[in-house]
Amino acid sequence: MKSAVALSALSMLAAAEAAETVLGAYIFHRHGDRTPKALAPTNLTALGYEQVYTSGQYYRSRYLSGDSKIHGINEDEVKLSQLQVQAPVDNVLQNSAMAFLQGLYPPYQTVQTLASGQSVTAPMDGYQLIPVNTISTGSGSEDSGWLQDASSCVNAEVSSNSFFNSEEYSKLASNTEDFYSSIVPSINRVISDDEVTFKNAYIVYDIIHVAEIHNSSIPNEDVLTNSTLHQLQTLAHAHEWGLAYNASDNIRAVAGMQLAGEIISYMNAIISTEGSTKLGIQFGAYATFMSFFGLVDLPKASTDFTGVVDYASSMVFELFTDSDLSAGFPGADDLQVRFLFHNGTASNSSEPTVFPLFGGSNNAMSWNDFQTNLNEFAISNTEQWCTKCGNSTGACAAYVSTTNDASAQQNSNDDRVSPAIGGVIGAFVTLVVVLGSLVAFMFVGGFRLVSKEALARGVPTTSIEPKA
Ligand SMILES: *[C@@H]1O[C@H](CO)[C@@H](O)[C@H](O)[C@H]1NC(C)=O
Ligand SMILES: *[C@@H]1O[C@H](CO)[C@@H](O)[C@H](O)[C@H]1NC(C)=O
Ligand SMILES: *[C@@H]1O[C@H](CO)[C@@H](O)[C@H](O)[C@H]1NC(C)=O
Ligand SMILES: *[C@@H]1O[C@H](CO)[C@@H](O)[C@H](O)[C@H]1NC(C)=O
Ligand SMILES: *[C@@H]1O[C@H](CO)[C@@H](O)[C@H](O)[C@H]1NC(C)=O
Ligand SMILES: *[C@@H]1O[C@H](CO)[C@@H](O)[C@H](O)[C@H]1NC(C)=O
Ligand SMILES: *[C@@H]1O[C@H](CO)[C@@H](O)[C@H](O)[C@H]1NC(C)=O
Repeated sequence: MKSAVALSALSMLAAAEAAETVLGAYIFHRHGDRTPKALAPTNLTALGYEQVYTSGQYYRSRYLSGDSKIHGINEDEVKLSQLQVQAPVDNVLQNSAMAFLQGLYPPYQTVQTLASGQSVTAPMDGYQLIPVNTISTGSGSEDSGWLQDASSCVNAEVSSNSFFNSEEYSKLASNTEDFYSSIVPSINRVISDDEVTFKNAYIVYDIIHVAEIHNSSIPNEDVLTNSTLHQLQTLAHAHEWGLAYNASDNIRAVAGMQLAGEIISYMNAIISTEGSTKLGIQFGAYATFMSFFGLVDLPKASTDFTGVVDYASSMVFELFTDSDLSAGFPGADDLQVRFLFHNGTASNSSEPTVFPLFGGSNNAMSWNDFQTNLNEFAISNTEQWCTKCGNSTGACAAYVSTTNDASAQQNSNDDRVSPAIGGVIGAFVTLVVVLGSLVAFMFVGGFRLVSKEALARGVPTTSIEPKA
């Protein structure tokens, strides 16, 4: 009797679990192992290819079959309308996306019979062709030394640059001078000796990190003990966090705000198409993870979220329901969202973990709450971007308010150098960006003049040229 009760309770539990249906998901993914940023152009390595491919295989087993299968998604032969794959114009990120897709949808042999009766088999064992669409933000991310070089958001650049004037920054910079001097010989002149400072903490860490993986001998290797390597990493994390997020100055996290807008827009597409759209995948830079983590309060769940995520890391937003689908696609009130993250390559033996968002404690939240919370900062259209970024030219000219005298005056006075823009100059010098002549020009004319000059020459303002 007792066991019968227990059994039925168990089967009820099983039924309740089985009742959950995943309706769609959005994955944001970092690229795999690559060559160092300081030696741009960066390339995805064989190791990196293998990492993102493995992650693709993992998500194949998670979302194309099994208990968490996305409702109605094609398992073997891709149906393009079910997928949206995006990456910025960037070799490392686009190639990572393609490698991931090879794992997600492996070759599927189809034989086609033509009108003539001739049969045709697809090349490469039926390798499936899946377009990777480009996303306008973040071009050249992996060749850029820092996040805001791949953004053209004026206010975000100014905000990130103010990190270099913060007390936190000055302290770390002065306390680590000796430490960085001791690293100089190991840098092997990939960047000049005087650039080996906290100001370039990520670039320095990146050079050593890549060399530790790929170079069998590094000059002065004895210095690179585990504790030194750990310190290099910790300092790089503090540096990048400082540039990517500041709780009292949200615009610094513009990359995360745009991602939030993209997530909401994709989820809305799943809902409005009643689930015909199923899986969104975007490849992007670690700095976007950081900005987003800050905005959704993930450091409250774990301070690990203030660190740079490892290669091939992924975060996922699952849209699911407990409702019975036989009555049709569930209403908005019956939809829930779950957030998962995996640091580094996800695989069957190391799966993503659920974390609560917005400082809460629940492992899932209603779609309505999720959307409301994200919309607090999400940038969903060009007008919002222009307004928040303070851009007023190009695509943004249409949104400049003509009734606002103060801003109209500002806009007419292009040569004005605001105090905040001084910081921009600092960062550009930091990263030894551009052509010497332009650097001089920047000091004289301010950031805007340089941008115009660069644009006129057709030099993207976002790219970093390594100093020869
Ligand atoms: C990346 O590949 C290009 C050729 O495609 C090469 O010129 C460049 O040196 C490579 N970068 C590194 C850091 O190996
Ligand atoms: C925003 O403004 C900056 C500085 O004027 C400019 O370099 C950038 O191209 C603008 N971006 C867009 C999308 O208008
Ligand atoms: C964060 O922003 C505040 C307000 O703009 C500023 O006072 C502070 O220095 C910033 N902190 C860092 C680390 O950038
Ligand atoms: C690692 O190897 C590359 C390619 O041989 C070289 O350019 C680079 O200087 C090396 N890096 C270090 C830190 O030794
Ligand atoms: C340094 O770290 C590596 C990898 O984490 C580990 O295998 C090695 O034992 C460590 N060495 C020392 C001396 O702690
Ligand atoms: C990911 O791992 C790195 C160590 O490689 C760590 O510093 C970072 O905090 C981790 N991030 C998260 C979100 O777990
Ligand atoms: C992962 O596990 C699933 C079943 O749980 C299995 O179908 C799949 O082949 C495994 N994937 C790999 C790459 O081992």
